[in-house]
Amino acid sequence: MIILCSNGLTSPALRRAAGRFAKAGGWAALVVTADPDYREKNYHVPRCKEELAALGLRAEIFDFDFQPPEALLNYDAVELMGGDPCYLLDSIHRHGGEDALRRVAEKGLLIAWSAGALALGPSLELFQRLEPGGDAQALGLTDLEILPHYSRFHTRYEGLEAQCAAYEKERGRKVCRLDDGEGLLLDGQGRLVEEILSPLRVTVAGVEFRNPVIAASGTFGFGREYGELYPLSELGGISCKGTTLHARPGNPPPRVTETPGGMLNAVGLQNPGVEHFIREDLPWLSRQGTRIIANVAGSAVEDYCRTAELLNDTSVDMVELNISCPNVKEGGVQFGVTAEGVAGVTGAVRRVCKKPLMVKLSPNVTDIGEMAAAAESAGADAVSLINTLTGMRVDIRTRRPIIHNNTGGLSGPAVLPVALRMVWQASQRVKIPIVGLGGIATWQDAVEMLLCGASAIQVGTAIFTDPYAPLKIRDGLLAYLEENGIRSVSELTGGVRPW
Ligand SMILES: Cc1cc2nc3c(=O)[nH]c(=O)nc-3n(C[C@H](O)[C@H](O)[C@H](O)COP(=O)(O)O)c2cc1C
Repeated sequence: MIILCSNGLTSPALRRAAGRFAKAGGWAALVVTADPDYREKNYHVPRCKEELAALGLRAEIFDFDFQPPEALLNYDAVELMGGDPCYLLDSIHRHGGEDALRRVAEKGLLIAWSAGALALGPSLELFQRLEPGGDAQALGLTDLEILPHYSRFHTRYEGLEAQCAAYEKERGRKVCRLDDGEGLLLDGQGRLVEEILSPLRVTVAGVEFRNPVIAASGTFGFGREYGELYPLSELGGISCKGTTLHARPGNPPPRVTETPGGMLNAVGLQNPGVEHFIREDLPWLSRQGTRIIANVAGSAVEDYCRTAELLNDTSVDMVELNISCPNVKEGGVQFGVTAEGVAGVTGAVRRVCKKPLMVKLSPNVTDIGEMAAAAESAGADAVSLINTLTGMRVDIRTRRPIIHNNTGGLSGPAVLPVALRMVWQASQRVKIPIVGLGGIATWQDAVEMLLCGASAIQVGTAIFTDPYAPLKIRDGLLAYLEENGIRSVSELTGGVRPW
C-alpha cells in the first residue's frame, strides 16, 4: 500500500488509514531526503517517530547513501520524508533503490510525504515549474500526482493555483491539491483506493469548500487587504462585497458605530459595479485558491438579473443574492421581507443564473421559515442567514441618530442568539443547505451554528476586531472534531437536540 500526503501522519484520519496496514510491534524505516548534515537537524524526525509509534511501529533512520536498498525489505513500513525531491531521487537512482521501493509498496506500507510523495509520482514537472532547477526523474510508482501543503504554499509560490491549473490543462491530468493532514491511499500498483480528506471539507449546493469557514460579505472587501496577512486559500471561501449593476458611492458618513457586543452600519452598498469586479478583482481572486462567492444586490429585479447574468461566464463559484435591499418599484420595501418578494426576485434570477444560487435572507421578518421556503420553492440552491438586524442609536447631545442614514444594520456577537434561532427555524422548513452567520466570533459559536442546521458558516464583524478570527475558528473546529472522534464536520449539521 502507498500513502501520499503533505506532512506525515499528522491527522487521526491518516493514522487510522496507515494503522489498517501497519504491523504493530514491527519496524519502520524513516528515509531522509537531504544530506546527513541537514538530517541531524531535521526536526521532523522525532515527530514522525512519534506518529509511527502511535501505530505500534519502532522507527529508525534509513539513508540510501549509507545502506543497501534491499535492506528496506526488512522493514514493515517505509516512510519517505519531505525535503528536497531532487536530492532524494538522485540518491535512490544512484544506489538502484527503485525496485526495493516498488516491492515495499507491493508487500508492505510505503508512506511518502511532500518531497517523498512527489518522488513517487509520474513526474516532477509541476514542482520544477514552481522551483526551477534540477532534472531528476520521478519514480512513476503511480500516475496520481499530489500538490502537498496546498493552502499553506500559496505564500511560498506566487500564482500557485494558476500554475497548477495551467499544468493540468497542458498535461491532461488532475493534480490532487492536498492540505496538511490529508492524503491518498493507493494499492501496491499505485491505484487510488481512498481519498483521506480533511474532516472540515464541506459541499454546499454542489460546490466543495476546503473548510466551512467563509468570510462574510461587506466585511472582507474583495480580499486584497487580508491577502497580505495570510493566504486566502486558508479560508473555505470569500463572499465578496455586495456588487450592483452600476458603481455606487454608498451612504454619507457617519456610516458605522460601535454598540455593546456589536456594531451598526449603513454603508449603503458602496461598490465599483459588477463589470469592474469582473475585470479588476475577479482575476486576482480566482488565483487565491479559495471559493469565490459574488454577493449581488440591486434595487429592481432587472438589476439583480442583469448582474447575475454578467457573472455567468466568469470563474465565480456561487452567487449570493442579497435581498435586504429596498425595492424602488415597491416604494422602498425590501425584497426580503415578504414571501412574494423573496420568491419573485429568486425566481427571476434563477431563470438567468447559471451559477449555484444562494439567497441571503433578512432577519427583519416575522417568520424566517416562510422566507427560506419561498427561496427554496423559487429555485434557490442554498440560503444564507442572517443579514443585519435593523437598529438605531441616538446622540443625546445633538439628538441626531448616530448613523447618517438614521437606521443601520446590527451585527456582531449581540446578534448570535437571533441568528442561531433563525437558522434552526429555517432548517425545519427547507431541504436545501443553509449557510449560517450572524455574530460568530469563536469556534464554539461556529459549532452552535452548525448544530442548529448550518452546513457552513460565515464570519463577518469578528474580522474587524481580529482579522485572523476565521482561521482560529477553522483550527478550533478541527481540534473539536478530532477530540470528539467526529469524522466530518457535516455530522454536526442539524445535530442540536431540542428539549
Ligand atoms: C460593514 C458591513 C458591511 C456589510 N455589507 C454587506 C453586503 O454588501 N452584502 C451583504 O449581503 N451583507 C453585508 N453585510 C452583512 C454581513 O455579511 C453579515 O450578514 C452580518 O454582518 C451578520 O454577520 P456578523 O455578525 O458575523 O457580521 C455587511 C455587514 C457589515 C458589518
